[in-house]
Amino acid sequence: MQKASIVGTGSCLPDRVLSNRDLELMVETSDEWITSRTGIHTRRIAGKGEQNFQLASKAAKSALESAGVSAADLDFILVATMSPHMIMPSCACFVQAEIGADKAFAFDINAACSGFLFALDLAAKYIASTPEMKILVIGSETLSARVNWQDRNTCILFGDGAGACVLESSDNGGILDSILHSDGKLWNLLYMDSPASKNPELLDPERKGCFIQMSGRDVFKYAVRAMEDVVVQLLERQNISINDIDLLIPHQANVRILGKLMERLGVAQEKVFINVNKYGNTSAASVPIALDEASREGRLQKGDLVLFCSFGGGFTWGSMLLRW
Ligand code: UT7
Repeated sequence: MQKASIVGTGSCLPDRVLSNRDLELMVETSDEWITSRTGIHTRRIAGKGEQNFQLASKAAKSALESAGVSAADLDFILVATMSPHMIMPSCACFVQAEIGADKAFAFDINAACSGFLFALDLAAKYIASTPEMKILVIGSETLSARVNWQDRNTCILFGDGAGACVLESSDNGGILDSILHSDGKLWNLLYMDSPASKNPELLDPERKGCFIQMSGRDVFKYAVRAMEDVVVQLLERQNISINDIDLLIPHQANVRILGKLMERLGVAQEKVFINVNKYGNTSAASVPIALDEASREGRLQKGDLVLFCSFGGGFTWGSMLLRW
């Protein structure tokens, strides 16, 4: 069966940097608290001209350039997001128009922070059945618009950004295996209710429903256990050990979650890519931004075994193994 290979990556971060010191002026918090509990120092916040689809389109152009693929040759654009520019049309349709991918079909998926992995898995299955397809997969978020800036439990965690990759079929390497899970029974531990809407019947008077609501401690506990379990499941199914992995690129939620995950998996820190300190949790964008940085920093060599894992609202979680 033809495998899907990542032939180019790109990312785009908004210009504005929001530091922990800036947050000290907005809510009752401290740089020391945020750093020690999350490892986050700064995050990026979208401004004018940096709407979700605009960040996504810039990341897309960069991925297309690195792949040497023209937008006009794309067959399919898939955007993972939970903070789209509009509910309808999809962010993917806006990206299609922005980059000029006239022959592609386009739609969004929402699997919260696991969205990029779920999207990659779907794209890989399209390529398995139609190997001539060229597919653009993007994870893109502007969560700053969906965060309550008076809620110190959540506003310190999230950031905006987009990451993208181009997929083509390949005879060797590419996406080797993936395992995805969901548990909708736990939806109320991490959720975002009705989107801001001009319809007064849908608009929450206090707009509380429009913001991310989170039971932080529970999410923390489930995230560590779920990511550990799904990584072990995948390694066992592939009959390999964590030592065979050249680079682990996990969802960038929080340094403490990643620390616990590394400890439980027994993986050395130098084999784990971490940039949550700079960008905070960018949800569906975190893995593709990290992948693009890892690639541009020379952390990935041809033939390397790369492992992704993620966890997010739903709950949703998964892991994916690929040969670079
Ligand atoms: O993609 C998944 C997305 N979600 C996550 O990754 C979140 C996972 N959870 C976490 O990372 C952690 O639970 C947090 C970083 C959100 C919170 O850390 P914690 O150690 O679990 O703290 P806590 O929620 O138990 O709160 C401890 C105290 C509380 O005060 P009291 O009740 O003990 O007086 C909070 O009110 O810390 C307080 N607190 C803060 N203090 C200063 C909560 N947020 C802040 C803050 N600054 N920003």
